Amino acid sequence: MSVRVPRRCGTHGVTTIWKGPVMATITIKNVWKYYGDTAAVKHLDITCPDGSFVSILGPSGCGKSSTMRMLAGLEHISSGDIFFDDLRINDLAPKDRDVAMVFENYALYPHKSVFENIANPLRLRKTEEKAIKERVEAAARLLEIDHLLDRRPHELSGGQKQRVAIGRAIVRQPKLFLFDEPIAHLDAKLRAHMRGEIKHLQRELGTTMIYVTHDQLEALSMADYIAVMHDGELQQWGTPSEIFNHPVNAWVAGFVGEPAMNFLTCDVIGEGDSVSLRHRNFDIPLLPQQVRQLNGGAAAGRARMGVRPDALDIALERPGGPSITGEIFVNELLGGDMLVEVALADTRVRVKTTPEFTGKPGQTCHLTVNRDKWHVFDTTDGHAYF
Ligand SMILES: Nc1ncnc2c1ncn2[C@@H]1O[C@H](COP(=O)(O)OP(=O)(O)OP(=O)(O)O)[C@@H](O)[C@H]1O
Ligand SMILES: [Mg+2]
Repeated sequence: MSVRVPRRCGTHGVTTIWKGPVMATITIKNVWKYYGDTAAVKHLDITCPDGSFVSILGPSGCGKSSTMRMLAGLEHISSGDIFFDDLRINDLAPKDRDVAMVFENYALYPHKSVFENIANPLRLRKTEEKAIKERVEAAARLLEIDHLLDRRPHELSGGQKQRVAIGRAIVRQPKLFLFDEPIAHLDAKLRAHMRGEIKHLQRELGTTMIYVTHDQLEALSMADYIAVMHDGELQQWGTPSEIFNHPVNAWVAGFVGEPAMNFLTCDVIGEGDSVSLRHRNFDIPLLPQQVRQLNGGAAAGRARMGVRPDALDIALERPGGPSITGEIFVNELLGGDMLVEVALADTRVRVKTTPEFTGKPGQTCHLTVNRDKWHVFDTTDGHAYF
């Protein structure tokens, strides 16, 4: 068990009510989930440090909710172990796990007031009336819904209902929060707002949080650590910056980042210290350490180059150094940025530039790759050489 640093519970006057951070290190060890013969979660290994905000990120059907349901005790673990600190919880009933879950459909009781919805888990535990009142009011203040306590759910907006569901989770003061796409159906503006709110709340309470999303921006902006899943398998575990800047394979690289990374299949030409990536539209040398990374991995004659739209510079004049020549296909103005789609011999790439860029569709243009930020992936299994 790690050392627990007492944290002051914020600026909302909850200090006297909250008993301070209650949290746990969550260890998922070689966990599998089968539905019949189908493996929905395969050899999953994750350790969520005490008090951390962990996001499980992946597309629909990759096994996120199955993992959450095994953590909550709503689904049997087919094989492997889950520990909360040193306690193996595989056979522990859901009510004994000290976990609070918030789902996308927040399942409020329609005939109960906001106060009673939030108070419900405390009533089930036969908490005394005075403590219920204190905790519900403190949670409502923290979530800024204290003026709504007498309303019924049908008198609330989507975002307010979501806060009530979160309030119901936090009054229990669980060891672990499990949030499964809690804001997925809210509109974009409210989602952006709730992202900040939930992050802030987790910091205030200090409780370990596992937060499921298929939205990479949500994971990148909120989490301390991200577990990227695909087809039931963990692809990569890391900080948002590690996942974004150093994806371990082409799948992660393509899933994370918007606009998405460009991929170009190239020949690997040359040997010794001088190796370049050659394509019908360019021939660009690797940096010296990249030659070592590629040869150390014994790349075959072909490789997939990956470069994000903001790691390309676009110009109408041919630059001095190595560049990619193409033709402007279309320009899209995205608020403060411009996205230019450039046609190459066999594909198109997208480049992020400024709205001042004057190139027009049909014109020849030249792209310079920021080689500190490009990636090379294996054409067979997709792993990253760098
Ligand atoms: N009760 C079940 N019986 C059979 N198969 C199931 C069951 N629940 C989930 N699955 C399957 O297991 C896989 C993983 O499902 P899961 O709900 O964990 O995905 P998810 O990542 O949460 O997806 P989404 O983003 O759509 O919620 C899917 O292929 C799904 O069809
Ligand atoms: Mg799900």
